Amino acid sequence: MLIQGYPDPGEGLRLHLNENTGGCSLRVIEAIRRLKPTDVSTYPSYPDLVVACARHFDVDPEWVLLTNGLDEGILMAAIGHISRARIHDAETIVPTPAFDPYPNSTAAAGATPVRVPPNADLSFPTEGVLKAITPRTRMIFLNTPNNPTGQLISTSDLARISEAAPRAIVLIDEAYIEFGGESFLPQLPRHPNVLVGRTFSKAYGLAGMRVGMVIGQPPALDSVRAVTLPFNINAVALTAVKAALEDTEFLPRYAAQVHESRERLYAACRRLGLQYWESAANYVLVRVGDTTPFIDALAARKIHVRDRSKDPATPGCIRITAGMLEHTNAAIEALESVVAGRQR
Ligand SMILES: Cc1ncc(COP(=O)(O)O)c(C=O)c1O
Repeated sequence: MLIQGYPDPGEGLRLHLNENTGGCSLRVIEAIRRLKPTDVSTYPSYPDLVVACARHFDVDPEWVLLTNGLDEGILMAAIGHISRARIHDAETIVPTPAFDPYPNSTAAAGATPVRVPPNADLSFPTEGVLKAITPRTRMIFLNTPNNPTGQLISTSDLARISEAAPRAIVLIDEAYIEFGGESFLPQLPRHPNVLVGRTFSKAYGLAGMRVGMVIGQPPALDSVRAVTLPFNINAVALTAVKAALEDTEFLPRYAAQVHESRERLYAACRRLGLQYWESAANYVLVRVGDTTPFIDALAARKIHVRDRSKDPATPGCIRITAGMLEHTNAAIEALESVVAGRQR
């Protein structure tokens, strides 16, 4: 039987989807409680939140498109720039390991993803991406920090790639940028072919609300806007994002927990002799070898992590969300007992 939705591991500590493990700001819950019946009975209105987001991220409101999660933004960018343009031999460039919606949206839009593997140390393959650009390249998906490696792409490499492919749309996915790295947003005025993707799901703790943004200059953004449905985000979610933006203390407090959690995970991996990659995001990629017994043993302790071993770029690897310290400590204790059990 196929039931809608992403597979749910059941109750326990969710460290498999890079959510905010501490929950959203309480100001969000209070704002939702203040909603009136007519706020729900009427179709949502977007301009107030678009203007608030533009101010917050220091961009022109005309450059902002709110989407139903960044997932929707990725799909609409592909539909807007590939299907709508009716290009038949279109290709996209997908550096790997990659977030699944890049190849999936490419296929949905009728194009072919050209995968570029990472460097041996899992760093970003700038030269490989530059070499993969052809006249057929319609979109390039760049993710910084990368999910699942946590590696960054430098701003100068992002600029080089966008300049090398002026006829393609370069989607820079910054879903985790609040946890490390430099946003490309200040560079956008010099790059008419770049779209920057952002989300409220991670650092802002609003994954259940489904709100993201695609930001770019009107010629690049208009094709995405043209295929996005007029009422794509619900009224409760709009209220949630507005309240989240107003709570200016929430994000730095959570980012500090994530930074400390990452350090503790690195230290635990060193103690346990597990290879790991330093991450700029709210997760750490760890090589454990045979992942299945490892993941099963953690799940038996009700701790859910993500198996990344099927990806040819990350054999033997799991990805662990780094969130609130109490959750990281619980994960580390479980990792230690699983490794100890394996050695017996
Ligand atoms: C790299 C990356 N981009 C985009 C998203 C989508 O986020 P949203 O919840 O806004 O759809 C995710 C979520 O896991 C992600 O990892």
